[in-house]
Amino acid sequence: MKENHLDIVKKQFRRQAPRFGDKGLTLTSPEHLEWMVTHLDLQPHLGVLDVAAGTGHLGRAIAPHVKRVVAVDATAEMLIEGRRQAEQDGIENILFEEGLAEGLPYPNDVFDLVVSRFAIHHFEDPGAPIAEMVRVCRPNGKVAVIDLIAPEDEAAAAAHNRLERMRDSSHTRALAASAIQRLLRQAGLDVVRAVSREVHVDVDRWFDLAETEPEMRRTIVEELTQELTGLRTSIMRPFLRDDQLMFVQTWLIAVGVKGGVTRC
Ligand SMILES: C[S@@+](CC[C@H](N)C(=O)[O-])C[C@H]1O[C@@H](n2cnc3c(N)ncnc32)[C@H](O)[C@@H]1O
Repeated sequence: MKENHLDIVKKQFRRQAPRFGDKGLTLTSPEHLEWMVTHLDLQPHLGVLDVAAGTGHLGRAIAPHVKRVVAVDATAEMLIEGRRQAEQDGIENILFEEGLAEGLPYPNDVFDLVVSRFAIHHFEDPGAPIAEMVRVCRPNGKVAVIDLIAPEDEAAAAAHNRLERMRDSSHTRALAASAIQRLLRQAGLDVVRAVSREVHVDVDRWFDLAETEPEMRRTIVEELTQELTGLRTSIMRPFLRDDQLMFVQTWLIAVGVKGGVTRC
């Protein structure tokens, strides 16, 4: 029987959970988290929902600046690890709950800010979770999507996503910056911020986190080396740092405001 996508996601993140907090990964970098937090206009009275929060890296970085955070995710092992890390760090205003992004277990209009980081590229149909994020956000509240993005050129984006899927089969599709913003607008948001930054990724650490199969590793390294030496058009922008193979990811923060209630 063909495995469904959610099973693939849960299998992948059950495996990643124990290493998801490792220092030196781009996703745990305090500097990158600080960059994200500063673009979310946090205030002490806010109630925040972190969707597909994993171990709550972003939610835990947000928590000291707001009233409370709910971190929701499909993978129980990620939530357990997040709870453990929050306890260890003495963060008391974050709650970890199991739930699906496509059917958030919350009423309409309850959160002041709804965020999701590095999850869009794991969804089969990102429109559905984004519609849910907008539903649970209060009128005039904000919805923020943070993700790695693909090139705007369709062929380049397909090549980029092919390599990402070879590395981790739970990757569906990273979208281009314009496509993410279009999705937010289609969900009824007014996009008020879109900022990006380039991030240098260590290829071996990237493989290790996802436990990429040895054969796939070899193929990806071969293709990146061909990009590096000019034998193939450069999509992933590989480079060497002290003989270590690296490549460049681009991360986007897109923030939208949910329309207010019209009063007579
Ligand atoms: C790459 S991790 C990102 C975790 C966290 N947001 C972060 O930035 O550190 C992707 C997370 O999305 C979760 N996920 C993927 N699809 C989901 C879905 N449909 N509903 C809820 N969680 C989902 C996975 O369980 C995993 O924890």
